[in-house]
Amino acid sequence: MKTKMKDAKSIQLGADALRAGKLVAFPTETVYGLGADARNPEAVKRIFEAKGRPSDHPLIVHLSSTEQMGEWAQHIPEAAWQLAEAFWPGPLTLILPRARSVLDVVTGGLDTVALRVPGHPMALELLKNFGSGIAAPSANRYGQVSPTSAEDVYEELEDRVDLILDGGRCLVGIESTIVDLSTQSPRILRPGTITQAMLSEVLGYSIDSIARSPQHYPGGDPSHYAPNARVLLATYDDFQKQIDDWQKKGLHVGVLSPQRPIPLEKNVIWLPFSEVMEEQAYSLYHSLRNADHLGVEVLIVLLPQDSGIGHALRDRLRRAAGMGERC
Ligand code: TXA
Ligand code: MG
Repeated sequence: MKTKMKDAKSIQLGADALRAGKLVAFPTETVYGLGADARNPEAVKRIFEAKGRPSDHPLIVHLSSTEQMGEWAQHIPEAAWQLAEAFWPGPLTLILPRARSVLDVVTGGLDTVALRVPGHPMALELLKNFGSGIAAPSANRYGQVSPTSAEDVYEELEDRVDLILDGGRCLVGIESTIVDLSTQSPRILRPGTITQAMLSEVLGYSIDSIARSPQHYPGGDPSHYAPNARVLLATYDDFQKQIDDWQKKGLHVGVLSPQRPIPLEKNVIWLPFSEVMEEQAYSLYHSLRNADHLGVEVLIVLLPQDSGIGHALRDRLRRAAGMGERC
């Protein structure tokens, strides 16, 4: 079964499929998730097979409400309740000491668990109907670009997924911010559209980010989110020169930037990028996929500024360029 549906009945089908141990891809506000019943070890194992992902990479458990946190985590600090209250449902994942009942296959054997209440209405309906936690990584093959539409999921996984729920384009467009609350002082493990400043404001103190060294968290491999095209990062200063150099080599060059390259040579395609960071997040993965569809060989990207959501954009772009080591 590889059905793609939009109607209300699809939620019921999705929840039933999860109960039967099947894999259901579903929309969240960030990216599409590849879901399985987080209490069913066989079903969770199938996620790793479908993605081709190493089995020690832990998964996020998606919940329908903050109240469920206590079923999956223990020793929950006050900071977790504060952040959940402020940002859930929404693009924030909290790492907490795991409850004993959480499966090893979900946590990759760690004593912590990642929890998130997603903001997409279809995800919430699915979670409510299902009634328990859904373990879900992004619904892409391991190391590839995360899917932001049902079509992207099908392109990535084809028959490896049993059902794809179609909730349209993801409005946030990049993965959730991950905050580790299992240690003494909270730290950002993966930046997202919920920024360091937003988190610090709610907590009442400044929160650190170790997101600049992605190899410090499981799944933080340098070459994640990579399209087929070679991705090159440019600054305002060397942007035009890079375009000129690569187009002269006769390669099919894509340019992802707010500015139109001048002159626009025949072998250069401009993929317009908004000036607004939220809009850049919304379109980033879509544009990376689009570059591949257009047969782009070298994609030159003008790096966003290193502030606010720019941290997250630069993190994903550096990984797309295969250089995730430092921002
Ligand atoms: O926006 C998102 O977070 C999407 C949607 C589907 O919710 N999910 C997502 O999942 O991006 P995934 O598996 O592609 O990325 C989750 C990251 C991985 O790098 C994983 O290693 C990390 O979260 N993670 C999960 N559990 C963890 C834990 N207990 N400690 C540290 N990192 C953890
Ligand atoms: Mg992922």
